[in-house]
Amino acid sequence: MKDILYISCSPKGAEAISSRFAQQVLHRLCDRHPAARIARRDLALTPPPFVDAAFCAAIMNPAASAAAFGASDVLIEELERADAVVIATPTHNYTVPAVLKAWIDQVVRIRRTFASTPAGKVGTLKDRPVFIVVASGGWFTGPSPAGTPAQPDFLTPYLRAVLTTIGLTTIHVLALEGVTRGPDALAAAWTSATQSLEQIVPPAA
Ligand SMILES: Cc1cc2nc3c(=O)[nH]c(=O)nc-3n(C[C@H](O)[C@H](O)[C@H](O)COP(=O)(O)O)c2cc1C
Repeated sequence: MKDILYISCSPKGAEAISSRFAQQVLHRLCDRHPAARIARRDLALTPPPFVDAAFCAAIMNPAASAAAFGASDVLIEELERADAVVIATPTHNYTVPAVLKAWIDQVVRIRRTFASTPAGKVGTLKDRPVFIVVASGGWFTGPSPAGTPAQPDFLTPYLRAVLTTIGLTTIHVLALEGVTRGPDALAAAWTSATQSLEQIVPPAA
């Protein structure tokens, strides 16, 4: 593993729980692959453009000018260079923050990162591991410890679906749930995510 792409998208910067835990994932990967370089893409600091009319026209007409794909090409090439991807994301209203959706709309692109075939969409990127760190105020994998029913989760199934669409099928989710429910809940979330990380990327021997 030579190149790791680290994508963060919380508006809270380094204070974000997702970004803080992602540092553990990056440390673990770098321990195992000491020569690895990390490319950082902070989507909150530099939001990708929204899809506009020129982008739609270029998607619909392959012969049209490719100028509309400037940002898209940059973000896709960044992804192609990576041997592993770490995505740190908060849950915002049951799903990904708008800036992460904007990134998805730039990188999930017909005739570039997936092909439309009679058998359905087929990804064209080579597979590589993707580590998704999700921080949420409440609980979505099951009820809260107090028994409050789980929230709807439109984040993890959605990210799995779009990443699989472009060929990235080796996906590991590290969830930190209940992180706004006080220090004990945050500590429990951190411990649980750390245990998951130990299983997914065991410490270097
Ligand atoms: C606009 C907004 C929407 C949110 N929506 C949810 C939500 O639907 N479910 C939830 O559990 N937490 C929600 N939260 C709480 C965040 O998920 C929580 O603060 C988490 O720590 C954010 O991750 P971060 O610290 O990495 O930014 C929301 C927070 C904000 C600011």
